[in-house]
Amino acid sequence: MTYLETAAQFYSQVAQTPEIGLCCVQSTPLQLPGLKIPLAMQEMNYGCGTTVHHNELNNEPTVLYVGVGGGLEALQFAYFSRRPGAIIAVEPVKAMREAATRNLELAAKENSWFDPSFVEIRPGDAFNLPVGDASVDVVAQNCLFNIFEPADLTLALKEAYRVLKSGGRLQMSDPIATSPIPAHLQKNDHLRALCLSGALTYPEYTNLIINAGFGQIEIRARRPYRLLDKQTYQLQENLLLESLDSVAFKVEIPADGACIFTGKTAIYAGKEAFFDDKNGHILQRGIPAAVCDKTAGNLAFVNPEEIIITDSTWYYDGGGCC
Ligand SMILES: C[S@@+](CC[C@H](N)C(=O)[O-])C[C@H]1O[C@@H](n2cnc3c(N)ncnc32)[C@H](O)[C@@H]1O
Repeated sequence: MTYLETAAQFYSQVAQTPEIGLCCVQSTPLQLPGLKIPLAMQEMNYGCGTTVHHNELNNEPTVLYVGVGGGLEALQFAYFSRRPGAIIAVEPVKAMREAATRNLELAAKENSWFDPSFVEIRPGDAFNLPVGDASVDVVAQNCLFNIFEPADLTLALKEAYRVLKSGGRLQMSDPIATSPIPAHLQKNDHLRALCLSGALTYPEYTNLIINAGFGQIEIRARRPYRLLDKQTYQLQENLLLESLDSVAFKVEIPADGACIFTGKTAIYAGKEAFFDDKNGHILQRGIPAAVCDKTAGNLAFVNPEEIIITDSTWYYDGGGCC
């Protein structure tokens, strides 16, 4: 069996017999007024963070959701896009499609605003999405792409890029590894299917997103996820996996490289009213300005005496105070 077949077999099993807490993180599930999540759907929460960023889901976006699982996030996206076919959920595993369909029917009984027609579940996989070029506003996947080997991950990212409209967003949640996962674990297809041994490091993961063409990435959360302890996993040292929530934008990559926002700010602390780097960045004295990591590095280099760069908060969702 290939590792993808092992994963499909595993998710077929946990579609039929749910495994509570398989992938979940220590964070409060997204609560929304008037949204009730059926128990059967909650028990099949196989995500490792969230991809539903409620403050930017206005205008009823069309969402392509890859790897539907029990349908939890498809339902959450449908909360914001209440029209037939607004959420297209792609899933290769028959038993999972059936479980999600059942769970969404239960959701319709518990939520008067919801109709199962809002979520269209289609057979297919991440490498060949069954929609046209530049046809959706959002592509989302939770705890799936980390399973893929790097060449397949590259394919899946390019496919997401293809189907997104210009300016569209790829919203993902995946485990990342704080140091490279040794080959003996990477080759373990069962651990890979469990989202425990395919994770890339943060630079590897973000580089692949940029290589697929995305010009801007925003990090929305980064938190401890699982420990691969040295006894159980035959490692020299314990290895911490983190859960990373990110949003990548289909915008042109700037000539000097993509922008990754991790929550850093630049603060001008000199004597003038403002500092102008003559490269599009004006900092008012004493007022933090959100900057991407590339700009943070450039500003710290041009004026290390007068510009303070604050640490990454691992949360950025645009805007600023003024
Ligand atoms: C870890 S689960 C996550 C499910 C869901 N996103 C959630 O948050 O609960 C991975 C899902 O991706 C599906 N899957 C497996 N291989 C896939 C592939 N090649 N393309 C798309 N989905 C796949 C699995 O069947 C499963 O539903």
